[in-house]
Amino acid sequence: MNKKTIRDLSFKGKRVFVRVDYNVPMDKAGNITDDTRISATLPTLRYLLEQGASLILGAHFGRPKNGPAPEFSLAPVATHLSSLLGKEVKFAADCVGPVAEAAAQALQPGEVLMLENLRFHSEEEKNDPVFAKGLAALADVAVNDAFGVSHRAHASVEGITKFLPAVAGFLMEKELDFLGRAVTNPERPYVAIIGGAKVSDKIGVIANLLTKVDALLIGGGMANTFIAAQGFSVGKSLVEPDKIPLAKDLIAQAKTSGVKLLLPSDVVVAEKFAADAANRVVAVDAIGPEEMALDIGPASSAAFAEALANAKTIVWNGPMGVFEMDAFAKGTEFVAQAVAHSQAVSIVGGGDSVAALEKVGLADQITHISTGGGASLEFLEGKVLPGVAALADK
Ligand code: 3PG
Repeated sequence: MNKKTIRDLSFKGKRVFVRVDYNVPMDKAGNITDDTRISATLPTLRYLLEQGASLILGAHFGRPKNGPAPEFSLAPVATHLSSLLGKEVKFAADCVGPVAEAAAQALQPGEVLMLENLRFHSEEEKNDPVFAKGLAALADVAVNDAFGVSHRAHASVEGITKFLPAVAGFLMEKELDFLGRAVTNPERPYVAIIGGAKVSDKIGVIANLLTKVDALLIGGGMANTFIAAQGFSVGKSLVEPDKIPLAKDLIAQAKTSGVKLLLPSDVVVAEKFAADAANRVVAVDAIGPEEMALDIGPASSAAFAEALANAKTIVWNGPMGVFEMDAFAKGTEFVAQAVAHSQAVSIVGGGDSVAALEKVGLADQITHISTGGGASLEFLEGKVLPGVAALADK
């Protein structure tokens, strides 16, 4: 990696602003239902503490639009972090201004302070320089360990680097190493599997992957638009009619560049979008007018698994169907198993794919599970992430 990391600086006696992505799923009672993003930052936090730093953690939670709101408070996250770290995590009820400044000033080496949700100030998302300077005033150095939000040019991610030396944490380094290799120097065959509801969310990724991979497998709701582009009727399936020409272009692009583009040959259909709806498997040219495709079928799963079997690099993002309903989860689970059992370097991003791996108990078989959803997609699109670009070069 050509960016400086926390190994390149000395932290003794320094106050360090660490941007983390603790935008974690939480239930209505305030319990964190998946703390992967928190535990993934522990190596960075422990290292900095061992080096004699004090830590000021900045994070966002959700997308609050009207200033402070209790349901978007990071206080439960600070409590959870404290139990994971095995030490007190102080909490400042604001991320800038007198409250934050007093709390930061009082910090001793080895102590940890978590700031309240950065997005309680609209200046965060506007990348406001005065706000960024206010954050920078709390610390001597900035560390970005928030790969998952580094596609956002926000004040705590990008703006702050104008006022403080800024380097990557270990999680950021790991994400860039794995995803970077897939983008620039993958071991071949390189196979990507893209799923999820809509093509429009992933056009850039598909177009860029088509210039890099040996095979691209497409499943999930977005496959319907490709099925329609092949001239088949998709009944009542979710489809984006305005994206059909684009899907045709992508099919043609795959042909000219010699990339094997695998689309579903069969699907599981139902007449209702419901877990208990009667369903059947049909070939993609036999979807009835009242039916909607809700999963890939067994022939498609088998073809996908075969394409994955010899891969040396696999990138997977997005489910193959409505996997939260058992009746339509088989395609995603089958793919999860194929990815997990392959000998390839496997990189998985996106909450749904990770949830599917966890459901089949195989998440630990994956080489790298990215903590970035949107960020990992933008990276795979070949975009430069502003939060990464802003870090000090080696
Ligand atoms: C995420 O959950 O993908 C990141 O934390 C970014 O959140 P955002 O999409 O609200 O900017």
